[in-house]
Amino acid sequence: MFVKRVTTGLMTIAAATFAVGGAFAQDAIKVGLIMPMTGQQTAVGKQVVAGARLYMQQVGATVAGKKIELIVRDDAGVPDNTKRIAQELVVNDKVAFLAGMGLTPLAFAVAPVATEAKIPLIVMVAATSVVTERSPYIVRVSFTLPQHSVAIADWAVRNGSKKALTLVSDYAPGVDAETFFKARFMAGGGQIIDSLRVPLMNPDYAPVLQRARDSNPDTLFVFMPAGLAGVFVRQFVERGLDKTAIRLIGPPDLTDDDELNGMGDSMIGVVSSGNYSASHPSPMNQAYVAAFKAANNGLRPNFISVGGYDGMHLVYEAMRKTNGSTNGDALVDAMKGMSWESPRGPISIDPQTRDIVQNIYIRRVEKVNGELYNMEFATIEAMKDPGKAGPK
Ligand code: PHB
Repeated sequence: MFVKRVTTGLMTIAAATFAVGGAFAQDAIKVGLIMPMTGQQTAVGKQVVAGARLYMQQVGATVAGKKIELIVRDDAGVPDNTKRIAQELVVNDKVAFLAGMGLTPLAFAVAPVATEAKIPLIVMVAATSVVTERSPYIVRVSFTLPQHSVAIADWAVRNGSKKALTLVSDYAPGVDAETFFKARFMAGGGQIIDSLRVPLMNPDYAPVLQRARDSNPDTLFVFMPAGLAGVFVRQFVERGLDKTAIRLIGPPDLTDDDELNGMGDSMIGVVSSGNYSASHPSPMNQAYVAAFKAANNGLRPNFISVGGYDGMHLVYEAMRKTNGSTNGDALVDAMKGMSWESPRGPISIDPQTRDIVQNIYIRRVEKVNGELYNMEFATIEAMKDPGKAGPK
């Protein structure tokens, strides 16, 4: 009896010691960043992780007296992986934040995990309007397809486009892009000749490019997620469509800074909408581009990278506001309404929707000092996600 009590006592002490050790170990606040680092979306993962790491390098790894630890995991862009990794990060690593989400279906897969664990999920890429509605713990720092699609539709109708064809990747953000471009273009008096969709994975553009040539629109609106436009543009040019009168337009994915130089001079003059350009003329952005290139073998930051950079800012400032508390509800509350300057310009988090409010710029591809850039020439200021109100 006595022996048993001593043993139990020792076990209690051992358990207590273990708990203290655990508490020490948890002094670091962990951020679980899940991105595609392999597979078709690799370039997206690279940009986000580089942005997140750069922020930490510049600001340091401590906030509100706590050390921030970034844990990067590769989901290869497969939703089942993303969900499993998120669960592991919550259960085994005890992360205080989940972050990343390189494609919309990946964010959909993780949303219930964030809700159940009551942990903020910082969406750094996934851009379908409805993503933020999938969990009250989601806060988005990237952009939405309705933001970009409405902005470029308005520019197109104001600048002579009358008959458009739309071409999108056949999944949720593509449907958003098509729906919002169409509605806005038609509201401005334009006509949509046809709406074509191609599979997200390994798309074949030959039939749709033929269709585009045959139906002779004056404007071709194209959306495919970051990292895929290079292949499309190559085929567009190979088929000589750049020599026709068709005006090629789209969201920033189409003239992605990451791929633009490789697309070649036939892109000069292409107009797109975008939340960020490497050529954005603010001093903060000039410093951002220089530091990003220095840290990544000369890689140019694109509109995806700022999601990683600003997402880490959100983590740090939320921690500062809660004085180091990792209560998920308190952190999400702290993020609501937060506003700051990003390399892309002024941004904020809409307190009602937890979605990003930002300038959307209209840009034209130009050659500057021997390199192709998206040069901003018009700004729609502080745009909320038009998707929350439905297409108009
Ligand atoms: C998305 O899947 O929501 C997505 C990913 C990358 C983009 C745009 C949209 O560039």
